[in-house]
Amino acid sequence: MIDLDLLKAALDEARLAPSVHNVQPTRWRVLGDRLLLLGDPARAIPVADSAGRDWRLSHGAHFEGLSLALAARGASLAGPQMLPGEQVSNGLVPIATCEVRAEAVESPREPVSERMSWRGGFKPVDAETQAGLARFAAERSDCTLVTGRHDIMEIAHLADRAALYFLRDGQHRAELLEWLRLSRAHPRYQRDGLNADAMQLSRIEAFGAGLVLGPLFRPLDRIGLAAPLVRETAKTSSSVGTVLFHRPAGEDPFVSGRAFYRAWLAMERAGLKGCPMSVLADWDESRETLARRFAVPADRHIVSVFRVGRPDGVQGGARARLPVDELIV
Ligand SMILES: Cc1cc2nc3c(=O)[nH]c(=O)nc-3n(C[C@H](O)[C@H](O)[C@H](O)COP(=O)(O)O)c2cc1C
Repeated sequence: MIDLDLLKAALDEARLAPSVHNVQPTRWRVLGDRLLLLGDPARAIPVADSAGRDWRLSHGAHFEGLSLALAARGASLAGPQMLPGEQVSNGLVPIATCEVRAEAVESPREPVSERMSWRGGFKPVDAETQAGLARFAAERSDCTLVTGRHDIMEIAHLADRAALYFLRDGQHRAELLEWLRLSRAHPRYQRDGLNADAMQLSRIEAFGAGLVLGPLFRPLDRIGLAAPLVRETAKTSSSVGTVLFHRPAGEDPFVSGRAFYRAWLAMERAGLKGCPMSVLADWDESRETLARRFAVPADRHIVSVFRVGRPDGVQGGARARLPVDELIV
């Protein structure tokens, strides 16, 4: 039988794994000496992620988080055995099974609590940052690092175009707004989604963001003001590098998600904070442009793109996460 206290302690750490829009879709069921990983289809973003790719990436990242947390406690997670995953049982989709073993595995201690999405600006590059970038690039063969100033500026403009392409779709904006917690009075502020602290927004900025992404978007866009208001050029161009995270074409996004989390932890170990810019990987035009410009091999797929650097500021507020008890069903 699985030691429930061990599982809960490990999940307390695993829940810090990244998930798209912080939807935290992964649930666990104990089946004797095995664990069943389930996905909550209500915690998904079907407009922005119609194929469920980011949803599956998020499950992979969470699985990797549990694997790391168990390894740190002298146990290991064997598997996963993937399930077809199309049927819904009690509102949840079974995705994989795995086994908790009471045997220690070699695993480096990863900076799980320190890693987070940094959505502010970055400090100018210095020797230490450069050394960190070099260490990171040497470690990850699935990441192409772009550091040229001109290239970063070009990527910043491309990211703004990609973001606008998606934001012009009203359903896309509505879905995003559903997961934004722009007021500290929001009942789910500390539980899930993207809150104002995580987005680095002051009260006034958060209020403005709600209007710009909500009722004012269309009128502003008609007079050419939506683009400058949603633009992130300044933040992206202050970054010291862009990381193109690419995986074998056709790889199960669950597997990519495991590597995605590891790559992000490697950035943290190298002293770099990062923020994914998924729109660059999601929009065919930007993904293909980046693959061509930065020679990503044809048999590899750009899964995500990060801007990275050393943060110019500090992150306020606690990390919004669901309590461990809700992750075990
Ligand atoms: C597949 C995936 C895609 C993501 N895309 C974005 C993105 O485009 N922009 C962004 O700001 N954060 C993105 N994130 C980061 C999540 O919003 C973040 O992990 C979540 O809010 C939890 O916060 P934390 O990373 O600080 O722990 C993505 C995360 C995942 C797993």
